Amino acid sequence: MIIIKNPQELQLMRESNRLVAEALQELKKLVVAGITTEELDRFAEDFIRRRGAQPAFKGYRGYPASLCVSVNEEIVHGIPSKKKLRDGDIASLDLGVLMNGFYGDAAITVPVGSVSPQVQKLLQVTEESLYRGIAQAKVGNRLLDISRAIQTAVESRGFSVVRDFVGHGIGKNLHEEPQIPNFYSTTAHNPRLQEGMVFALEPMVNEGTHKMKILSDEWTAVTADRKLSAHFEHTIAITGSGPWILSNPDHESTALPLAG
Ligand code: MF3
Ligand code: CO
Repeated sequence: MIIIKNPQELQLMRESNRLVAEALQELKKLVVAGITTEELDRFAEDFIRRRGAQPAFKGYRGYPASLCVSVNEEIVHGIPSKKKLRDGDIASLDLGVLMNGFYGDAAITVPVGSVSPQVQKLLQVTEESLYRGIAQAKVGNRLLDISRAIQTAVESRGFSVVRDFVGHGIGKNLHEEPQIPNFYSTTAHNPRLQEGMVFALEPMVNEGTHKMKILSDEWTAVTADRKLSAHFEHTIAITGSGPWILSNPDHESTALPLAG
């Protein structure tokens, strides 16, 4: 069952997700060669606690930190450590909060210093695929319209979509129904989209194979071929007037950047 949120609940979810977005904006500025991923985690946790929110990931199924930092071939769920970021790396930052009873969840992938045109393309295609998916998140469409739009945006540019992790409903729980694959799946549920549904859409895009492995820390997912992977995530609401990006850091913007 997909839980529908009323307008007051959507407003609370906007606040939770705005906080995530603002934290990610600040974290992005800190992503420079020499910073450790642990320092980014500390900043994230302090930032959200000072605003009266709790980190959503810490303790979730035993996850040990507030932020996931997934570097280069790491797809998702990288655990912060004393590892320093280096020029030319890419770092995915994934953050969740719980505030006023509702979760927020978003992720960005940030280049460290300068990266090659091919790597810039990977980041751009991944973010654009997210916005292509968001554009399909409207009343009258079905869930897999989102999935198909993401997959097409990725594969038409020569990259692959991770299959082992999916987007999800979100609300009073971090993970609610439905699961939202980033690819068209004949076995997935394909409900009609309705006003008041809230989804965390999160394409994970690989340079090479879509296949992944989990490291011995039992969290970090890496590409099977150790090529690069990028991840962007927004929490969005389906409204009568189109998708509302709840994790948009800007105050009121609803523009969908579809260039490129
Ligand atoms: N955005 C991810 C998700 O929705 C991050 C979860 S990290 C975890 O699953 F530690 F909480 F599992
Ligand atoms: Co998520």
